[in-house]
Amino acid sequence: MTLAEEITKLKQEKNAVILAHYYVPGDVQEIADYVGDSFYLSKVATKLENQTIIFAGVEFMGESAKILNPEKRVFMPDATADCPMAHMIEIKDIEKVRAEYPDVAVVCYINSTAETKTYSDVCVTSSNAVKIVKKLPNKNIFFIPDQHLGSYVAEQVPEKNVILNPGYCPRHHAITVDAVRAAKNEHPQAKLLAHPECPKEVLEEADYIGSTSGIIDYATMHDDQEYIIGTVKGVFHELQKKNPNKRFYTISGGQVCLNMEKVTLEKVKMCLETECNEVFVSEEVRRKAMAPLTRMLEMAK
Ligand code: 13P
Ligand code: SF4
Repeated sequence: MTLAEEITKLKQEKNAVILAHYYVPGDVQEIADYVGDSFYLSKVATKLENQTIIFAGVEFMGESAKILNPEKRVFMPDATADCPMAHMIEIKDIEKVRAEYPDVAVVCYINSTAETKTYSDVCVTSSNAVKIVKKLPNKNIFFIPDQHLGSYVAEQVPEKNVILNPGYCPRHHAITVDAVRAAKNEHPQAKLLAHPECPKEVLEEADYIGSTSGIIDYATMHDDQEYIIGTVKGVFHELQKKNPNKRFYTISGGQVCLNMEKVTLEKVKMCLETECNEVFVSEEVRRKAMAPLTRMLEMAK
């Protein structure tokens, strides 16, 4: 039996379902029941019937699935797979802004810890942040933790006063406008599709800005044959699968999320077999963190 076959068998025996983000290795995406961007995966997590969820992604994703499914068991193939940006905001920073702007709405990117979510008014993902911020009644918005997604939202919703926090994704932050221009010179026919976690100067060069799903859909739906991809290379698996004759280029060698790469087929199998790395969230944190997540699911409709 191949590793993939063993996983399928174990999955059936345990009545488990596997969710995977577009950044995990391609062979893991292939054995998953659902693959998508953060928003799609959190929506899926509210509709599952299986008692066991294996989340092939990073910690905030498994945590969000557990918060939305307290009665289910959620497991991570690698317990150390975490998003560094999720930790780039401290509670004292939120309290400071709340004291200064009593009417502020704390808008929390889903790439954040469960504790941070408990201090937030609404969660967002890259695919719904603009829509949700537009709908909020508050004039003042504290956008945490990502400065780049926050500044992109601020531009799209100029009627709001968006206060930024200095957090960033090390992988997207490292994409420079010079590297983008060099890639464009090398591939003059290619369209640039970028994730809003990229710096502003990079986004200014983009033909399309969107989530991982948005980028995949754009390249799939358009006739252009070449694309420069301004996000983590994990998306190439789905891009190439859906568009075998189109060409996709990276901007630099650093477009790899080392944490997502930790999720391997061997670890998925071990996780199913030994039921290791279960995600636990205290009931108090779960209850409080559920409110902004549920509000996101409602407001994004
Ligand atoms: P998406 O919601 O676009 O999948 O992004 C998740 C992420 O971590 C981007 O770095
Ligand atoms: Fe976090 Fe960046 Fe990895 Fe996304 S790509 S999970 S933001 S470290």
